[in-house]
Amino acid sequence: MTPINIDRCVCYDTTFAAIDAWARAQSRVVTREDVRKEFGCGGGCKLCQPYIACALRTGQVVFHEIRVEEEID
Ligand code: FES
Repeated sequence: MTPINIDRCVCYDTTFAAIDAWARAQSRVVTREDVRKEFGCGGGCKLCQPYIACALRTGQVVFHEIRVEEEID
């Protein structure tokens, strides 16, 4: 079975690595709403929101399983 690699917001073609790098460069806590304002990510189909929430919380930028849960910012 081929593993899945989920590494980006497809609607805005932006990697979670790019979002994580941007978030780390901010001198404040970054929320999903901040990411949406900066990149648009999470404002389209919204399927990337659980991954963005996890990336902001943990720094993980590549995922190998489907995430559907919503995190509260
Ligand atoms: S995949 Fe990010 S808004 Fe659709």
